[in-house]
Parts: sequence; C-alpha cells; structure tokens
Amino acid sequence: MTQINLMSPEVLANPYPYYAELRRLSPVCQVEPHGMWAVSRYEDVLFVLKNPSLFSSSGFTVAWQPAWVGYNPMANSMITRDPPQHTRLRALLLRAFGPAALARLEPRVRATSERLASGLVDGADFIQTLALPVPAYVISEILGLDHQLLPYFKQWSDDIVAITPSPASPEAAERIRGTIAKLTAYVGKVIEERRRAPADDTVSELLRAEVEGQRLTDVEIKDFLILLLIAGLESTTNLLGNSLLFLADHPEMMTRLRVEPSLIPSFIEEMLRYDGVAPGVPRIAASDVTLAGVTIPQGSMVFPLMSSANRDDRKFPDPDRFDLTRGSQGGLAFGQGAHFCLGAMLARMEVRIVLETVLARFQRVERMPGNIQYQCALTTRGPVALPLRYIPVG
Ligand code: HEM
Repeated sequence: MTQINLMSPEVLANPYPYYAELRRLSPVCQVEPHGMWAVSRYEDVLFVLKNPSLFSSSGFTVAWQPAWVGYNPMANSMITRDPPQHTRLRALLLRAFGPAALARLEPRVRATSERLASGLVDGADFIQTLALPVPAYVISEILGLDHQLLPYFKQWSDDIVAITPSPASPEAAERIRGTIAKLTAYVGKVIEERRRAPADDTVSELLRAEVEGQRLTDVEIKDFLILLLIAGLESTTNLLGNSLLFLADHPEMMTRLRVEPSLIPSFIEEMLRYDGVAPGVPRIAASDVTLAGVTIPQGSMVFPLMSSANRDDRKFPDPDRFDLTRGSQGGLAFGQGAHFCLGAMLARMEVRIVLETVLARFQRVERMPGNIQYQCALTTRGPVALPLRYIPVG
C-alpha cells in the first residue's frame, strides 16, 4: 500500500502531482481510503472501464450502501448494474437525452442563465448564483419536478454523495437517512401524478417507454430519477466552478474566449481533461485480475482514475499544459464503454450557455482573498464556494 490517501486535504486541493507519482511508480496499487486499488495510467483505466465482466459496477453499491444507510436508490440505479441488465435499462432511457430533448431545453437554459446572471455582483459566490441553480433548474425541467424544491436539491445531493462506510456522526447518519426517505417519497408522488395525468416530460416518457415488450418498474424509475438528480447536479456545478476558477487565474484565456466565443466548446473539452469533475469511479474485481503486472484479488474495490488517465503523457503530450488546440479526443472525463455518461451532451450544452452568458457580461473575474476549499468526496471534485469580483465589459 502506498502512503497516498485520495481523501486527504492536500490531495483534494491538488491531486495531479500525486496522480503523476502513482503513474510513474505504482500504476496499480492500494491506496487509502478503504485500501482500494487505484489504477492511474490511461491504457489501464480504459481497460477497466471497457471490461465490465472483469470490473463490475456493483462497486457503487458497495460504496453507497453501507449497512447504516439502509436502502439507497442511487446504490440500486442503472449506474451500479452490469450488462445485460444495464443494457435494457439504458436502452429505455436514451431517448430522454437525445438531440430533440436538448434542442427543446436550450432556450429555457439560456433564459434561466441570463436571468440569474444579474446576481453576479462583486463578492457573489458563483456556485450559489449560477453554477448550482442552472443545472438544478435543468434537472427539475427534465424530471418535471416542482421548482419550489430547487433550494433543497444541493443539500439532498451533498448528503447522498457524502455517504462513507461509517457515518461522520449519529446526526449525519440520521440526516442522510431522512434525506433518502424524503427524496424517495417525493419522487414516488411525482410518478403517481404522472400516471394519473401524463405530461410532456421525462417521467411520463419513462412510464410509457417499452423495449421488447418490457417496461420499467416503478422502483427502477424511482431509482433512476434519484440518480439523475444527483449525477446531473453535482458534476455540472463542479465543471462550471472549475472553469470559472481557471478563467479567474488565466485572464488572457477569458479575453480570448470573449473575442472568439466559437472556442468555448474546445475550452470545455480541455477543461474536462485538465481538471475533470469525476476523478474516478468504483468497480469490484469480479475475479483475480492481473493489470500492469499486478494481481488484484477477486472482490477488491478497484478505482480507475479518469482524471489521472487524462494527464497521462503516453496519451496526451505535455499533459499539464492547458491547450485549447489539443482536441482532447480520447479524454475519459465522462467515462467510457457501457456506462458512458448519459448526460454528456446535456452537460456540455449547459456549461456552454453559462459561459456564453458570463463572457458576454464580464471582461474579467478575480478571486477574492482566501483559499479555495474543495469538496470532500471521492467521485466528484469542485470548489465548495467561489466568491469572485466581476469586472464588466466596456
Ligand atoms: C454516468 C461524468 C453530467 C447523468 C457518468 C459517468 C461519468 C459521468 C464519469 C460514468 C460512470 C461509470 O462509468 O460508472 C459526468 C460529468 C458530467 C456529467 C463529468 C458533467 C460535467 C451528467 C448530467 C446527467 C448525467 C448533466 C443527467 C442529467 C448520468 C447518468 C449516468 C452517468 C444517468 C449513468 C449512465 C449509465 O450507467 O449507463 N457520468 N456526468 N451526467 N451520468 Fe454523468
């Protein structure tokens, strides 16, 4: 076991030098927490992601459903399933994320982003003002949820992402169990309502969806909706946070994007590679597997580090340089293989629109004094808060 703890404050603040050390010295080795097997080189990470029969996604269930939690819908959703069960669920859900659904959403995302941007005054926290409410709005639109609940989404999501083998305190355990109960009851109510009165939204579509004569069960729909709420919120918020932090530290990049907004999609791709928001995903070794000459015993927790793979110079030359012209093909920020992120196109669209909104209004953003605190979670990375000064255009 190496000395690296992926949850220690130094690693959370800047994991990249630690990933580089892992790639160089121990590309497959046990780390803390949980003595899990970190896999850090591009080729090996890709191998893990593309071989679900060797590396099962039930790793999520193990990570998210320790006994003290009880039933956790996230831990039973499609992200935790392997083919062929996963294949059936995914086929039923793909349409809800297709180009037609995105085109319908885009004008509403822009209107929301522009409305909320009026809150970007000196010292305002970019996370609370824009990076969180825009994805929260999008998720509630997709799911047809009541917008009055938007302020609670983040707390719900934080509670579920914060699940660890033993709870931080009895109060934290109580709160997390309460959140799961509330969310499950609420989503159950939405399903009942849509069954009685179908609408033009994803829940109604899921109730109608059929593949080879099979429908989703209510429990499958419930688990999926809760997965979406969390997968769609946390990661997009973090990508927006990481992007604005980068622009605050690189004003010349902000000027360049403002002058040439057509470069924004390349900026987003490179940002995903350079400072991705899903550092790794848990898997379980289905049998003894040898990777890079190291044998991982059956049943072990394996953690392919996509954010390390994305900085591997065997794949990306000069990987620590942010390069807009790189064309980050092969980047693993959204995963790869059977579980490739269902919301990747949606997330790109949301982030592009928010960046366009910000760049049209401000020539520069500046950090406020004080250090940035990063989220304390294994599978997501981003600043907890990001107060900035916003210098208007012209
Ligand atoms: C899966 C990243 C945004 C929904 C994944 C996976 C990654 C990822 C790495 C693969 C997990 C695995 O292999 O086990 C991201 C990033 C995002 C983002 C970096 C934003 C920057 C979204 C959004 C949604 C979403 C906006 C939906 C509203 C999902 C779903 C899955 C998934 C449903 C599970 C797919 C499956 O199991 O087949 N995401 N995600 N994600 N993501 Fe995203």
